Amino acid sequence: MSELGIIRDGAVYIRHGMIEAVGDTAAVLKSHGSRGVERIDASGKVVMPGLVDPHTHLVFSGSRESELQLKIKGKTYKEIMAEGGGILQTVASTRAASQDELLNQSAKRLARMLEHGSTTIEAKSGYGLDRRTEFRIIETMKRLDREFSVDIVPTFMGAHAVPPEFSGRADEYIQFIIDEVLIDLPSTHPVRFCDVFCEKGVFDFGQSRKMLLAAKALGLGLKVHADEFEHSGGAELAAEVGAISADHLARPSDDGIMGMARKQVVGVLLPCTPFSSMTADYPDARRLIELGVPIALATDLNPNCWNPSMQFTITMACYNMRMSPEEAIVAATMNAAAAIGREKTIGSIEQSKAADIVIMEVPSHEHIPYQMGTNLCSLVLKGGKAVFSAGDYRAECF
Ligand code: NIG
Ligand code: FE
Repeated sequence: MSELGIIRDGAVYIRHGMIEAVGDTAAVLKSHGSRGVERIDASGKVVMPGLVDPHTHLVFSGSRESELQLKIKGKTYKEIMAEGGGILQTVASTRAASQDELLNQSAKRLARMLEHGSTTIEAKSGYGLDRRTEFRIIETMKRLDREFSVDIVPTFMGAHAVPPEFSGRADEYIQFIIDEVLIDLPSTHPVRFCDVFCEKGVFDFGQSRKMLLAAKALGLGLKVHADEFEHSGGAELAAEVGAISADHLARPSDDGIMGMARKQVVGVLLPCTPFSSMTADYPDARRLIELGVPIALATDLNPNCWNPSMQFTITMACYNMRMSPEEAIVAATMNAAAAIGREKTIGSIEQSKAADIVIMEVPSHEHIPYQMGTNLCSLVLKGGKAVFSAGDYRAECF
């Protein structure tokens, strides 16, 4: 994770949206020539793989800025949730939104992500919690994927919270979401992954396991919101069911960590989430890395943590979890691609990968976490095509 493979005075040769060659500028020019080739001068800047954001809750309606006042007064995420705020408030506004409202609000967030260098993201459903709205959220992701120059990898997260109509009946809700929603996804709304919020007071180990095994039987890949606030067995569960990732991980057990390392389950860390919940509960990234868990980073963009920027996430990973700039960059590119099963096609600047490339207006990669709170992207290429340039005022729809 600390090896970036930096090439000084390097060049990338792109053809038909793919990387055809990468290496010393002189060597690339010698092997591929420069006649008839459009050149982009990135002298003095950093050229790096497009950022990959492997954990987002992109599609929802409304916002929860008023919760900041409560957090400032000392209320915890779970207290706000227990009082009817949190996820269930966003479920109510998302159910009430029209298809166009949902699309337009989510599109604005996606544009901000692209401007900040994210060229592929994962997105979870989970603010519908009924058949109609969950389907609508997945349809919205698919439309955004088609209309925007960001690839969206869809995840079904029907087990994100227990909706009011099933209050106190989490077992029945899990049965409902499996029998009435999940079961129809492959034929009507295909998704790549299934995720579950395995946490005390939300879904327990057994309920989470049941949900994930049902999804596995349908051929979906698995993810877990694991051990975010308390140890809930999420990391163990991810290892047991063969999940591609376990995410959050503020309180995993040693067994859970060992299991993840053994099965090479990617640990997706979300340092902006404890920041926005105003807790000090950052995952112990150093220990996870030492014990051999591959680490990825993600924004966790959601109404509690309105963070579209992987650059800010990289900064937070370094300053709050003591990841090195090199580790954080690997975690935001190559390992993030692995967390969504795309490591063969994106996540690094290598021959035969997609030409998803970001040019950063900084003299070295160490400046990416260091220069905080501003967008450092000067150009974003998706499949070799310029989709955002700092000269543009805003990236809308390309
Ligand atoms: O990953 N922890 C659960 N889900 C989201 C938060 C969703 C919300 O607060 O709306 C997360 O942080
Ligand atoms: Fe999340």
